[in-house]
Amino acid sequence: MSSEEKITKDDFLRLKKQKKALILAHNYQLGEIQDLADYLGDSLELAKVSREVEAELIVFCGVTFMAETAKILSPEKKVLLPVKEAGCPLADTISPSQLIKLKQDYPEAWVVSYVNTSAEIKALSDVCCTSANAVSVVKNIPVNQVIFVPDKNLGWWVKKNVPEKDIILWQGGCFVHEQFKESDVDISRKNYPNAEILVHPECNFKVLEKSDKILSTGGMVNWVKQSSAKTFVIGTEQGMIYRLGKENPEKTFYSLGMARLCRNMKMTTFTALYNCLKREEFEMNLEPEIMVSARVALERMVQYV
Ligand code: 13P
Ligand code: SF4
Repeated sequence: MSSEEKITKDDFLRLKKQKKALILAHNYQLGEIQDLADYLGDSLELAKVSREVEAELIVFCGVTFMAETAKILSPEKKVLLPVKEAGCPLADTISPSQLIKLKQDYPEAWVVSYVNTSAEIKALSDVCCTSANAVSVVKNIPVNQVIFVPDKNLGWWVKKNVPEKDIILWQGGCFVHEQFKESDVDISRKNYPNAEILVHPECNFKVLEKSDKILSTGGMVNWVKQSSAKTFVIGTEQGMIYRLGKENPEKTFYSLGMARLCRNMKMTTFTALYNCLKREEFEMNLEPEIMVSARVALERMVQYV
């Protein structure tokens, strides 16, 4: 096909069938990508799918740490990330040398790392978690002292829910979620008095305190389905509203203040996805020693709900 010819959805589906590929997409992906996914979900759901599903080729529409996680959990599968540069700035807020220093300062503590971290950080961790199971992981691990990295807001929420443990927090944050303000909650309450305000735990803790529910993106999908409320205000990346609106056409969704976009999540366009499949790039390949150590922490993660 010449570069001038427009690629259609049928072209994509033909290629996907020919390559026997499976498309996984995170809830923040563009609507056009969400619509093409075999599995759409949050970080924990997609990690579990990548580990359990039978497939030789996985295309992960998300950011680097998600595709790396899939590769670590399923080393025998070929895992592709459509856009090489689609990283997660939150994951970059802690380096291996910084974590090594922290481990030296607290030698008795377990390191619980949020899945939004590099493979190197996972390899230095005792267990990983996502926003869906962070509280359960910290509550149930067999130690009283925890180093929690890198998100301080998710860490604040974990601390609040597990007050009996000594939790040392790294001060990283997500540039998307930190833009939501307390005043956005106040204004939304005034504008939509009957709405439920659902926020992601990466929002600033002052926003978390004022909201109705603190949920992972998958948690939001489940909550909205069973709630009797008709209107919702959503404090997370805008892609979530696309999915919620599509799956709940009788309900209304507003963003908490301005729509917030994760530019890294939005790099995966239909053309990028098609080219990724066609060229079979960019393949996730990690150092074998990193893979082995990181896998221990990730295998522990998927055991917790
Ligand atoms: P979830 O695990 O809730 O999908 O969140 C991932 C993420 O990157 C949030 O910014
Ligand atoms: Fe990373 Fe924040 Fe984007 Fe999630 S929304 S992928 S934490 S930068």
